[in-house]
Amino acid sequence: VSAGIDGSALPRPSIADDPGKPVVRILYGTQTGTAERFSKQLGNELRSRYGDSTTVDVRDVETYKPEQKLATEKLVLFCMATYGDGEPTDNAAVFYSWLLKEAKEVESGGKEPFLQGVAYAVFGLGNKQYEHFNAVGKKLYKSLKTCGALPIVRRGDGDDDGVIDDDFEKWCAELLEVLDKSDLVGKRVNQNGQHAVPISVPAYDVEVIRSVDAREVAPFPSGSGKDVHNPFWAKITTVRELHTSQSGRSCVHVEVDVSGSGITYEAGDHIALYAQNSEAVVKRAADLLCFDLDALIVLSVPKAAGDGSNGDLQLPFPGPISIRTALSYFADLLSSPHRDALLALSTFAADREEAARLALLASPQGKQEYVDFIGKPHRSLLEVLQAFPSAKPTIGAFFGCIAPRLQPRFYSISSSPKLHHTSIHVTCAVVHDSMPTGRVHEGVCSTWLKRHGDGAAVPVFVRHSQFKLPQSPNTPIIMVGPGTGLAPFRGFLQERAVLLASGMELGPAHLFFGCRSRHHDYIYQEELEGFVASGVLSHLHLAFSRDQSGKDYVQHHVERQAAMLWPLISEGGAHLYVCGDAKNMAKDVHKAFIGLVQTAKGCTGTQAEVVVKELSDSGRYQRDVW
Ligand code: 2AM
Repeated sequence: VSAGIDGSALPRPSIADDPGKPVVRILYGTQTGTAERFSKQLGNELRSRYGDSTTVDVRDVETYKPEQKLATEKLVLFCMATYGDGEPTDNAAVFYSWLLKEAKEVESGGKEPFLQGVAYAVFGLGNKQYEHFNAVGKKLYKSLKTCGALPIVRRGDGDDDGVIDDDFEKWCAELLEVLDKSDLVGKRVNQNGQHAVPISVPAYDVEVIRSVDAREVAPFPSGSGKDVHNPFWAKITTVRELHTSQSGRSCVHVEVDVSGSGITYEAGDHIALYAQNSEAVVKRAADLLCFDLDALIVLSVPKAAGDGSNGDLQLPFPGPISIRTALSYFADLLSSPHRDALLALSTFAADREEAARLALLASPQGKQEYVDFIGKPHRSLLEVLQAFPSAKPTIGAFFGCIAPRLQPRFYSISSSPKLHHTSIHVTCAVVHDSMPTGRVHEGVCSTWLKRHGDGAAVPVFVRHSQFKLPQSPNTPIIMVGPGTGLAPFRGFLQERAVLLASGMELGPAHLFFGCRSRHHDYIYQEELEGFVASGVLSHLHLAFSRDQSGKDYVQHHVERQAAMLWPLISEGGAHLYVCGDAKNMAKDVHKAFIGLVQTAKGCTGTQAEVVVKELSDSGRYQRDVW
């Protein structure tokens, strides 16, 4: 029996528990699909490496419910992403908070370490540019250990700011080395040390419906809109530009009618929208792939392929559906393709040189080529198809492993249900960037909203958040939200306006808003000034970054207002809120809060950090950042 990384013995799979063969459970917490992709990749690798001797089960952590079964497992491998402000992904939220609570109890001696006998490994996915890099992977790893489980390999920290596939591959190599020597899996079938599966191309079976009477089904069934599994087809009733024509950018105010749905929401929640690729993008993709846009297709999962490569395929959409609809709603065509997609694509390239170059881009040796050709220039899948014209995947392979599924886009809701009972407002910056390849990148959802949103129907669902006004309207609030970071605060202010109108007394409210110029992108100016006039907002602090020679940012105003803000925080129990850009703004505002405490209290930076951390731990300092 080999040992865990801290030298302790690995548990043996118990024959009594599992009369057949050892089971490897791979669980993923995913938001945009990367953790899921990695889990399936690892699942395929294990299946081909250990053959029939071992059962490999890859699952979404939410549907698996490890909080009920974890203690009975022998080996669990987690691929867990960190999302937003150091939070778990939606599908991991229940499990994660359960585990952290259990670990706390074990730590305090209130509970036995109940996961003894469970071997585990954790690969975390995150982005180093964010403050809480891989917070979920780190806490998961630690908590499992606290509860008595045994780590068999170091924690993997994937960094999406670099080449995260590389981090994963390296970690997998270490994991596989440990597994090969352990009793946790069966005997290795493939011994030659090379990549076990020659090339795995998971593909659906595709039936093309020829009947003239056939009709396509809706791409999403109509649900309540209460969660990700049940989107509701909502009607967009308003799309209005918020910038002036001279701003050079665009930001739209959108109103979504959710009457007739099961949706309830509060100010501070998020709404997710399933937008569509533009017609031009869909047409270009179909041309490059030689797909007939009007063909109606039905996908099905093929019977287990001998190499296990189809092991984890799930149907991405219902059928019959036209290729046009499938490409519009379900194919992420404008993001960069991952290595496994390039490898799969290489198998379809009729031209040998193209095949070789695609295979190189997908290989560890081609890492620099990948960075130069795909990563740095943000080359999209569409551009790659264009650059390798002989690579014509089948429909089944294209949706099976080449085009990732287009993800819903989340927006902070910018209205309050107290004012708008059946309508949800969104404040959406329209993404329009020039890429190094000369391509103009248009954000899928924002562009669709701006061009085609008004009057259209869109599948939506609401995600509830912790970003909430204090219980009592008397508690002072300090809100920092430049740009579209203003969104949830517009909801907060609407809520306060309703409370004020009903005769309630309101505590002080400070809003720090920033944009480039007073004249071009000062969104909702009239409304904000109206809130000041009516007393809903006691102080509006404005930072226009480009109206003078030096930069004026919201954090400069926060520091300047220390004398006014500190008593609200120290004596008034004020709640602090930050919304918007995580990579720069939220970090700088965080520093400003620390500076503010330091100045006000005359303490050291370290002492001030403790104060700010206490505010955050007690729920009085909340962030909605991206
Ligand atoms: P800039 O584009 O002129 O640099 C909304 O996007 C506003 O946030 C803009 O005025 C933008 O200014 C500003 N901004 C950019 N970086 C910031 C940072 N690190 N902290 C605060 N505001 C920032």
